[in-house]
Amino acid sequence: MSNPRHFLTMDELTYDEQRHVLALAKKVKRDPAAYRSALTGKTLGMIFQKKSTRTRVSFEVGMYQLGGHALFLSGNDIQIGRGETIADTSRVLSRYVDLLMARVYGHDDVEELARYSSVPVINGLSDLHHPCQVLADLQTIEERFGRLEGLHLAYVGDGNNMAHSLLLGCARAGMSVSVATARGYECNPEIVTRAKAHAAAYGQVVRTVYSPAEAVEGADAVYTDVWASMGQEEEQEKRVKAFQGFEVNAALMARANENAIFLHCLPAHRGEEVSAEVCDGPQSAIFDEAENRLHAQKALMLFVMGAA
Ligand code: CP
Ligand code: NVA
Repeated sequence: MSNPRHFLTMDELTYDEQRHVLALAKKVKRDPAAYRSALTGKTLGMIFQKKSTRTRVSFEVGMYQLGGHALFLSGNDIQIGRGETIADTSRVLSRYVDLLMARVYGHDDVEELARYSSVPVINGLSDLHHPCQVLADLQTIEERFGRLEGLHLAYVGDGNNMAHSLLLGCARAGMSVSVATARGYECNPEIVTRAKAHAAAYGQVVRTVYSPAEAVEGADAVYTDVWASMGQEEEQEKRVKAFQGFEVNAALMARANENAIFLHCLPAHRGEEVSAEVCDGPQSAIFDEAENRLHAQKALMLFVMGAA
């Protein structure tokens, strides 16, 4: 059997592959009926060790719309919760299903799942990466601006999984990325280095700073995410203090380009990382972004299954 095509980070798609998946996502969105039986008889197994609204529903609905079937496997209910190894779980599940998606804590867990799987594994979020979200983000940005190359995305907040996947995905798309984090909450330096190399190949830049105002200067898209991610709930209070001055509000948006859009992977905490005025204001594209999870992931599933 040939090696399955996994999707664990935004680094795994070349520029051409990223273009292919985004073009497919556009077609799938425009004409969903054309793909109604593209994955007939196929089953997606979805392992969730963390909560989810968008990822769970968009993958399940997406698979149904492609003619296939999806299984929700809560980490608490399958034997992983009682100590069965990821390696064994992977080898067993890949005898039953055609595709796996997993939302995990440690990124090592999704890597381990992929290492032992004979079917493609998609990362539905790990502590280090959230690549499916970035496919939808890129689709949304392209819809609004008609292109990606040469645009500038500013990320303001925690140097977390979202920041990492945006760095890799946007830089690969030929965009510039500025990231402003609080001190002590910086991005993974290896990921920043890789993103810098991608951006440089397109004459673009990746900058990491501590000032939200500096990051959003000249930005076409301003992105933020929660300050305490899943698994960090007990740090909430400490993080709220550390991120004072990092709220994306009207004053900060005014420093970005006039036609800049606001993006957030959701769920959002209005009054913390984003003001209600911006989150629900005219520059916000958050619900298109959430919708595009469905289209982008349908395209991704078709791609990794070799069906389009
Ligand atoms: N953005 C995102 O992945 O949302 P969920 O946690 O609801 O899946
Ligand atoms: N950084 C957030 C993203 C949620 C979609 C988390 O990991 O909780």
